[in-house]
Amino acid sequence: MPSDQHDSLLLRALRGESIKRRPVWMMRQAGRYLPEYRAIRATTDFLGLCRNPDLAAEVTIQPVDILGVDAAIIFSDILVIPEAMGMHLQMQQGKGGPQFPEPLRSSADLGKLSMGVTEDLTYVFDAIRETKRRLDGRVPVIGFAGAPLTLAAYMIEGGGSKTFNTFKSFLFAEPEVTHELLNMLAKELVSYLVGQAEAGANMLQLFDTWAGLLPEREYQEFGLRHASSVLSEVRRDLPDVPMLYFPKGVRSYEGVVESGASGFGIDWGTDLRRADQEIPKEFALQGNLDPAILLSSPEIIRERTLEMLGKIPSHRPYVANLGHGIDKETPVDHAQTFIQTVKEVPLSLSVS
Ligand code: CP3
Repeated sequence: MPSDQHDSLLLRALRGESIKRRPVWMMRQAGRYLPEYRAIRATTDFLGLCRNPDLAAEVTIQPVDILGVDAAIIFSDILVIPEAMGMHLQMQQGKGGPQFPEPLRSSADLGKLSMGVTEDLTYVFDAIRETKRRLDGRVPVIGFAGAPLTLAAYMIEGGGSKTFNTFKSFLFAEPEVTHELLNMLAKELVSYLVGQAEAGANMLQLFDTWAGLLPEREYQEFGLRHASSVLSEVRRDLPDVPMLYFPKGVRSYEGVVESGASGFGIDWGTDLRRADQEIPKEFALQGNLDPAILLSSPEIIRERTLEMLGKIPSHRPYVANLGHGIDKETPVDHAQTFIQTVKEVPLSLSVS
């Protein structure tokens, strides 16, 4: 069945069809850099916001109204999966981000996790349905999840970290237990992503924020292998839904291109021209402006955005975006300059 957004700019671009300009959205586009987000966030805690379909839909649509982005990404978080599996999640404002006060440290800890938790995430599906109802066809809705490796990193480390040394040492010492956890996550992620598409998500993105944390061989074994099993199983159920994989910090796309994704988010550290050369032409690319450029000045943002667009040949399916999430200190007019610049460039002129 064709998606309700079959002819939207985003889905046309992802299929490599002719379009007049590149579609654009921003990772973390619903968030604290927007005063309108902060106003709603002040009324409730983070998880309360995720769990309230009316409020979640409202903040999901804010960047569509305020910035004119070409897609809405559903307001939620990658960590709602471990939370639904029974891990207590604390989202502390300004205290180093999300924390799991009781991280996983043994095989016995895995036994305490619940499986089959998709039905506990009905609030995400309800938020997608409410967002679609309010958008009334204006732009597609993007669903997402964290890849198994990235979720396991938080669940074992207990929160964000510069090194993730606790997670990494666990992985090296207990490879079998680590694989067991990754398999459990992969299983949950498949039905969660399929559920999001069934609720109306028109594209899915798998965030592997910590793909660059491990040596290449361990990334292939613990990261890519499990991300690929999620992507290929979702693909089996949903042959027509575009799925983008964002393996932040990977050193090579070899193997990554066989993951089952239809396209790849390119992080800000990667040269976009090299990604274009290494990734076969049938795959979509998305990215990769350094989010810190949005902290500079409108002139620099314009110049760097035009430079980015010029790196991609016109026949390559491509979605303009940042190379990671927007920074919370970003002035709104700077984000607007980025979006407007992409919108002003006709596709034929973006060819270098
Ligand atoms: O993109 C969007 O606008 C949709 C919403 C979204 C959030 N988190 C909301 C959020 C998405 C797609 C995410 C993904 C996410 N969450 C990732 C993968 C992408 C990436 O940035 O690497 C990761 C690693 C997380 C985990 C997470 N959640 C962290 C590290 C933090 C703290 C960082 C911060 O900015 O404070 C969160 C909290 C979070 N998730 C916030 C938002 C808007 C801020 C919380 C608040 O409003 O108090």
